[in-house]
Amino acid sequence: MKPSVFVGRPVFEEVLDSLRLHFDVVDNQADALFTPAELIAKLQGQAGAITTGTERIDAALLAACPDLKVVANMAVGFNNFDVPAMTAAGVQATNTPDVLTETTADFGFALLMATARRITESEHYVRAGLWKNWRYDMFAGAEVHGSTLGIIGMGRIGQGIARRAAHGFGMQVIYHNRSHLSPELEAQCGARYVSKQELLQTADHVMLVVPYSAESHHTIGAAELALMKPSATLVNIARGGIVDDAALAQALKERRIAGAGLDVYEGEPALNPALLSVPNVVLTPHIASATIKTRKAMAQLAADNLIAYLSQGKALTPLNALVERR
Ligand code: GLV
Repeated sequence: MKPSVFVGRPVFEEVLDSLRLHFDVVDNQADALFTPAELIAKLQGQAGAITTGTERIDAALLAACPDLKVVANMAVGFNNFDVPAMTAAGVQATNTPDVLTETTADFGFALLMATARRITESEHYVRAGLWKNWRYDMFAGAEVHGSTLGIIGMGRIGQGIARRAAHGFGMQVIYHNRSHLSPELEAQCGARYVSKQELLQTADHVMLVVPYSAESHHTIGAAELALMKPSATLVNIARGGIVDDAALAQALKERRIAGAGLDVYEGEPALNPALLSVPNVVLTPHIASATIKTRKAMAQLAADNLIAYLSQGKALTPLNALVERR
């Protein structure tokens, strides 16, 4: 009998087909929303599961799902996983690194451009029929080329953004990270390490690409926003919770910074309503990795992790090292 796996959210049919060669597949192409208790019920008898960032895998769920051996997150971020609890339960955790790096870096840059050059704000103005006359200062924004970009979180995606900024737009790139890059990587990225305070005080544009954890919660709050230049912009493509959204909305309202571009939010898909009432913010619905090619690659990598782990006992992109399979 084939093992059974659960695919928690809708996914490309071809990815389901590749799973069906190895497993009985319970899919959710109808995109039903499950409460934690319903998710536990769905996972009974399942050896593996594909999740997205919205399904929480914690000790309570693991205790109630003794058949589960592997959970593959279709995301590079995995703050919906309690990895130590998964390790303790002997459950393999995997994510989807690398396949989304360049696509996500492209999007970070797109959000930076849209924010600095006030693209969505001016589009709303045109759509609302308000454009009657051209003016010299209409939607005049901030310079991107030649300006200083400060990147907080210099992993693969941060490095991709740095390369675009330094080599494509002649920007000075400064970064802050838990660890310094090697001198070779710093040279490739055209980036210089600085303290968080120096970054916030000197950057014309601040880009957040740091993974979410208890330590990175509210990396940017009222105190950090107060350090930024009034002309500066802030882009968050990292995770909701990295920024204190209420403090940001207030800073935007009072024009203490010039603008922000946000792809992720505290408590998403709900948004802090204050963000909806300020014009100087570009809002997108967590789509930084959303090209068809990249989303297919992410889904296939998640599926391949289930296949590799359940047939050979070795995941392709593991997040935890397991002593033994349960
Ligand atoms: C998306 O947010 C991801 O972590 O892949």
